[in-house]
Amino acid sequence: MSSSQRVRVSIDVDGSRYVDDVDPRTLLVQHLRERLGKVGTVVGCDTSNCGSCTVLMGEPGRAVKSCSVLAVQAAGASVTTIEGLAGPDGGLHAVQRAFHELHALQCGFCTPGMIMSAVDLLRENPDPSEDEIREGLSGNLCRCTGYQNIVRAVQTAAREMAAARETQPA
Ligand code: FES
Ligand code: FES
Repeated sequence: MSSSQRVRVSIDVDGSRYVDDVDPRTLLVQHLRERLGKVGTVVGCDTSNCGSCTVLMGEPGRAVKSCSVLAVQAAGASVTTIEGLAGPDGGLHAVQRAFHELHALQCGFCTPGMIMSAVDLLRENPDPSEDEIREGLSGNLCRCTGYQNIVRAVQTAAREMAAARETQPA
């Protein structure tokens, strides 16, 4: 098959199914931004280094750098971007809320990817230590904040999510 031949892919993104014919060389981040209009997912480098393009993929959603995945590799998968993280009622996710309240951003460029990585981190480890948070977010670079408020925001979100779990009916 020539690389210019288009391939039909179906991807569930932020709760909606999208079926498109894509060039097999298209990166997932290009597909999200340019075809699906999910411009909340941003591109901060061309070396798969900065993490600003991070989305959640699969079940359970694991953080992946969408610039290092081809759109065809996401075929059949479900993908959550920063735009699909809020609840159906539009309420912010606990991690989004904590980033906002604790001023865990300055220019905000790293923030979508940082939040998606933090969500995955807290799914795997609901009560991380400061070192575990720093390690868990080490694939996401921030040029502005010095990371201190980011760590505090993740700690705050972890506490809030733990409290919410306790009040949930068994
Ligand atoms: Fe930098 Fe994907 S854009 S890691
Ligand atoms: Fe500017 Fe993180 S807030 S890069």
